[in-house]
Amino acid sequence: MALNMKTYTNTQLLEMFERHLSAMQTPSEPHRLYAPIKYGLEEGGKRIRPTLLMLAYNLYAEDVERALTPAMAVEIFHNFTLLHDDIMDNALVRRSRPSVYAKWGENVAILSGDAMLILAYSHLQRTSTPQLPRIFECFNKMAAEVCEGQQMDMDFETQEKVAVVDYMRMIELKTAALLAGSALIGAILGGGSERDCRRLYDFALEVGLAFQLQDDLLDSFGDERLGKKIGGDILEGKKTILMLEAFSRANEEQREVLRTTHLRKDLSDADKISTIKALYEELGVPERVEQQIASRFSKALSILDTLEVEAERTAELRHYAENLIGRKH
Ligand code: IPE
Ligand code: IPE
Ligand code: MG
Ligand code: MG
Ligand code: MG
Repeated sequence: MALNMKTYTNTQLLEMFERHLSAMQTPSEPHRLYAPIKYGLEEGGKRIRPTLLMLAYNLYAEDVERALTPAMAVEIFHNFTLLHDDIMDNALVRRSRPSVYAKWGENVAILSGDAMLILAYSHLQRTSTPQLPRIFECFNKMAAEVCEGQQMDMDFETQEKVAVVDYMRMIELKTAALLAGSALIGAILGGGSERDCRRLYDFALEVGLAFQLQDDLLDSFGDERLGKKIGGDILEGKKTILMLEAFSRANEEQREVLRTTHLRKDLSDADKISTIKALYEELGVPERVEQQIASRFSKALSILDTLEVEAERTAELRHYAENLIGRKH
């Protein structure tokens, strides 16, 4: 590997990706099928998955344009999952705007989501590499895992007791698998060794776990810049890491509050949210979750140190993960 290989900053990669995405043509008719796709993919997303894919690629190769088609595939796939996720979670707001589901209704969000999934695969297919069958295999595996995780997430809503290991498995599937798969595809396409590909997968999996723990935390304790309804998880009765931690520390009376508040007809949404948040704070839950995020994150960084590339080449990836996990909204 050439020592003087060009390394792009994550900002440069993001700009390149945004240019490519905005040049994408979508058909105009039927309007209610394609307009939500355009709306969903417009700016506002952090583009984490394509950025990870391109950063991983750039560890081993410098012609980063080559990574744009799989980068498009993972971002479009991610946005497809959001269209359907907002139906499942009754979420009316996404990226500070009405969700596709809120704006066009459930049927449109289902079908436009389906069309996005097809679009994701058609971008993936355009990737020029003899490794394409392997890349498809990775993509299919992670796509199936996201569905498995989403089903577990919904099953847990009505399950009285959820163990932390089951929760961790659920977020590994619904969220971390896609970050890990993106990094893996970038590394495979770039020509990383088998060992490095596996390591980058493990790195992004840990980042993904930390990221979803943080997403749960911000859902209750973030501010409106998050672009989602604060307290949405509480109202839906989600078994987030906050709920699990609170339950394990609560006395019987507090447990009853945790179990029943979101179901109460005599409380407004705002009251339900403030009741549960107050209890979380009383039980020291945010601090506990912060610790878990930090420990996952340091595990991720230690994996990065074991890659077979010069340490300075991993600086962008490290820097990117740091900003992602340190975000407050
Ligand atoms: C939202 O993902 C879904 C989760 C896995 C928590 P992001 O927070 O990456 O969503 P955007 O694309 O940046 O809006
Ligand atoms: C999202 O989990 C996972 C997927 C979309 C696959 P969440 O339901 O927590 O994501 P947000 O909070 O709605 O973005
Ligand atoms: Mg969800
Ligand atoms: Mg959701
Ligand atoms: Mg969430």
